[in-house]
Amino acid sequence: MKELRSHRWYGVNDLRSFGHRSRTFQMGYDREDFAGKPVIAVVNTWSEINPCHTHLRDRAADVKRGVWQAGGFPVEVPAISLSEPFMKPSTMLYRNLLAMETEELLRSYPFDGAVLLGGCDKTTPALVMGAVSAGLPFVFVPCGPMMRARWRGSTLGSGSDVWKYWAELRAGNITQAEWEEVEERIASTPGHCMTMGTASTMTSAVEALGLTLPGAASIPAADSEHPRMAVASGRRIVSLPTSPLTLESFENAITVVLALGGSTNAVIHLIAMAGRAGVPLSLDRFDALSRTVPRLANIRPAGEYLMQDFFEAGGLRGLMSRLDLHDVMTVSGMTVSETLRGAEVYDDDVIRPRSNPLSVEAGLAVLHGSLAPDGCVIKHSAADPSLWQHTGRAVVFEDYDDMSARIDDPALEVDASSVLVLRNAGPLGGPGMPEWGMLPIPKKLLEAGVRDMVRISDARMSGTAYGTCVLHVAPEAFVGGPLALVRTGDEIVLDVPSRRLDLLVSEEELAARRSVWVPRERPASRGYTQLFADHVTQANEGCDFDFLHGSGGVGEPAIH
Ligand code: FES
Ligand code: MG
Repeated sequence: MKELRSHRWYGVNDLRSFGHRSRTFQMGYDREDFAGKPVIAVVNTWSEINPCHTHLRDRAADVKRGVWQAGGFPVEVPAISLSEPFMKPSTMLYRNLLAMETEELLRSYPFDGAVLLGGCDKTTPALVMGAVSAGLPFVFVPCGPMMRARWRGSTLGSGSDVWKYWAELRAGNITQAEWEEVEERIASTPGHCMTMGTASTMTSAVEALGLTLPGAASIPAADSEHPRMAVASGRRIVSLPTSPLTLESFENAITVVLALGGSTNAVIHLIAMAGRAGVPLSLDRFDALSRTVPRLANIRPAGEYLMQDFFEAGGLRGLMSRLDLHDVMTVSGMTVSETLRGAEVYDDDVIRPRSNPLSVEAGLAVLHGSLAPDGCVIKHSAADPSLWQHTGRAVVFEDYDDMSARIDDPALEVDASSVLVLRNAGPLGGPGMPEWGMLPIPKKLLEAGVRDMVRISDARMSGTAYGTCVLHVAPEAFVGGPLALVRTGDEIVLDVPSRRLDLLVSEEELAARRSVWVPRERPASRGYTQLFADHVTQANEGCDFDFLHGSGGVGEPAIH
């Protein structure tokens, strides 16, 4: 067992290893519990403030059962929980913190492999980024979606329907009492959001990368298959499988995200994850694949159903069996095609056949132009097609507070053809690139029946949001991107078919505006937020820290 990394802590015979062994005895373990066995970290993002992860204490116990069964020594270690509903200003600010924590946990302790437990939005990319950089074998255990929720005979989708009913409340179409009933019903079991939001998108992407057991990402948290998957993952990690990430595996993940109609956040996270794996992945790869991959999963917000329906219809394996994928190795020890043997689809409306897709193109576009020299994205599958080509006059909001203060002002000069612009909401401007990209429709337009408008920002958008929202504009306004120079009344042209976003203002005028542009104050001068501000990269580069790209480069810790 000398080849085990943990041998340096446990197996040698010296003063320090005495400490490691005696302190393991202190915790009530016997020599036969750990001696010569692979030590498996069970990295748990359970927290009492993360409703999506409420069942992860139980699942950690399930994983440990599998590790014991297969002859490993499981060690549960907590890591910071990124709770999408509660953490402010945005969990995105802290994704890199969890990634750093995961990497350093795995590097500094005597672990030979890891099982990672998470699933609420940024948790998934963060855990994977850290584990990839640490370079240890790992298996990801997705926390699983919630079961479907019902209210007064209709189905509620977490995330998506909050926007819908909020708009209806603001328009006076539902009562306060009805709004409160929706509040009590919309999330009724453990698990992550059960729409195709960022959580479902990222857990599915990680399965497509080959980092989970086959089928893991689609199992609802409350289904008995979920603990069985966790136990099997525990058994699997003891053989310390590796599944190197390649451009092919990332293309598989992008293909799956596109066929799912997944969250725009996946663009940022996959680029960041690829950066850790040393795989060059650019925005343009997403656009190229988006033109060839059909959208097959009929899941909200761009479709009709929820993750439980998707699971019952055959889940991700069913979907993947209908896609052209590279046959790369996975942590299960099988190649992708081997994991898909016997995969079937049981409901062709939930998982469409290629002959009857929801759309022949996936509906996620990368745009460039004078307003976004380094690119931006739009999920036009979730937008009103009549707005895909649109020219309108900008109504500019300087930042989120400015927008909140003026958006519902009856005197605001805005109509349905206006283009709403929010700036200073990017990686540095937010800070943390909050999910403010689905700007609210001004109340007076809502009351007039307007439900979609062109909106542009350097922010992100919740995976469960929808509308004609141009997102991730890079470079962001805070660092002086052209978005900083737009003025109310300027004409902006959105042209999704041509993949363009342009500001119809002359070069000379823009140069004049730039000469008087004053950068805003930095948001923080201490702590983690300062580290973030000093090192975060722009959206088209994945918003990782510049010093965290790649893996290796940090030696094994000295033990003395
Ligand atoms: Fe956790 Fe949506 S709030 S996944
Ligand atoms: Mg979200």
